[in-house]
Amino acid sequence: MRVVMIGAGYVGLVSGACFAEFGHTVTCIDKDEGKIARLHQGVMPIYEPGLEAIVERNVAEGRLFFATDPAASVAAADAVFIAVGTPTRRGNGHADLTYVYAAAEEVAALMTGFTVLVTKSTVPIGAGDEIEALVRRVRPDGDVSVVSNPEFLREGSAIEDFKHPDRVVVGVSDERARSVMEDLYRPLNLNETRIMFTDRRSSELIKYAANAFLALKITYINEMADLCEKVGADVQHVAMGIGLDHRIGGKFLHAGPGYGGSCFPKDTLALTHTAADAGAPLRLVETTIAVNDARKKAMAGRIAAAMGGDVAGKTIGILGLTFKPNTDDMRDSPSLDIVPALIARGARVQAYDPEGHEARALLRDVDFRDGPYEVMDGADALVILTEWDQFRALDLDRVKGLLNAPLVVDLRNVYNPDHMRLKGFTYASIGRM
Ligand code: NAD
Ligand code: UGA
Repeated sequence: MRVVMIGAGYVGLVSGACFAEFGHTVTCIDKDEGKIARLHQGVMPIYEPGLEAIVERNVAEGRLFFATDPAASVAAADAVFIAVGTPTRRGNGHADLTYVYAAAEEVAALMTGFTVLVTKSTVPIGAGDEIEALVRRVRPDGDVSVVSNPEFLREGSAIEDFKHPDRVVVGVSDERARSVMEDLYRPLNLNETRIMFTDRRSSELIKYAANAFLALKITYINEMADLCEKVGADVQHVAMGIGLDHRIGGKFLHAGPGYGGSCFPKDTLALTHTAADAGAPLRLVETTIAVNDARKKAMAGRIAAAMGGDVAGKTIGILGLTFKPNTDDMRDSPSLDIVPALIARGARVQAYDPEGHEARALLRDVDFRDGPYEVMDGADALVILTEWDQFRALDLDRVKGLLNAPLVVDLRNVYNPDHMRLKGFTYASIGRM
């Protein structure tokens, strides 16, 4: 099948490359000329493990193409996916659909023959109806079906998630479009992936409901962690003890500094606005947002408390700046709250992240270092903000030798408290004694 991806970002590029890997012919379109130029040179615009190899192979085998101009590929396409950003609208919490509508309008003008227009971007309930009305306005003669197919991949494991999803959700009412979607995802039948067909509005809501539930689950364990600290329990044992109940499940129960990233914060916010407008407020999700925001803000105080209450004039070494490991994405990372708050309290910050290069533009007055041990050199405390693999087995004797004082604040519970104390560290973590 001939597929076009509008938007070659974290979702569009990964989905496009994976569809090509399934055997489809895919063109990824992006209006960012620099991004497309880099892709033409074989340079990935994002850091995503395994992506480069898939892109390289499918380009070489003639199934994957990149362009800034959608005209030729859209005219020949069986399915056109919209995978552009849907950030928070400035001034209120709704999703900004400007990019989605602009892409839909552009595609509508270029389609020939029957075309399935698939919304992969996360869009609020009813956006599919708006897109359909817009397309009919631009092309009253067009033969198009507008479908919802939300994406559930996670950054850092995006390729595995796309190729082995728990499910694929497709919101479609038209039989011809359903058959195109079945053909597109047929390669997943080998893994017996469940492809769930539903109506478009339910499909749109499934995406938000899933993200909000996961955000709520994380926030629940984070609050449990706070309680553990007060009553002398261990949150990792509590998480395991409840997670072994299949009705609860053990995933997304890692306590930490609060969730971040390009989706949970914006999607929970957008969902609460949609719900409030519809007269069915989602108070649990509203509370999740408030609790998580407060948590991220409180983390600097927690670090200061571990350092005796005052960080003024002290040097803090920070490991990890991205919102999670194995991505270069800095959007809504907890580090963007924590690092400036430490600096505002008078601390000097030296930091390292393997891929969070964008932090240099986002964080002021930080001394960026080139490796994990460099951040510890002369620091009064070491703080782990993101659990990159390379921070999991540090040479603890070397760490102790480099730090001014053997103090480690581990906001991701990477290390074992007993072992750290045995090694002579003062060690603070989340929800553990
Ligand atoms: P992104 O910002 O990485 O990429 C979007 C790309 O679209 C950009 O490169 C931009 O230049 C391009 N673009 C915008 N308008 C365009 C147009 N008219 N024509 C061509 N290109 C255009 O965004 P992302 O993280 O990939 O997210 C895309 C959507 O997918 C969002 O709705 C997001 O909520 C959803 N989503 C993201 C993830 C994730 O892990 N990042 C996972 C699931 C769903
Ligand atoms: C999340 C969802 O997991 C994906 O299913 C969804 O497609 C995506 O959002 C999206 O809609 O964009 P992602 O944001 O890439 O994926 O990463 P997650 O692994 O979900 O982590 C999000 C945040 O939650 C991170 O800050 C992470 O550190 C935090 N987290 C996650 C925890 O604090 N504890 C956990 O147990 C899990």
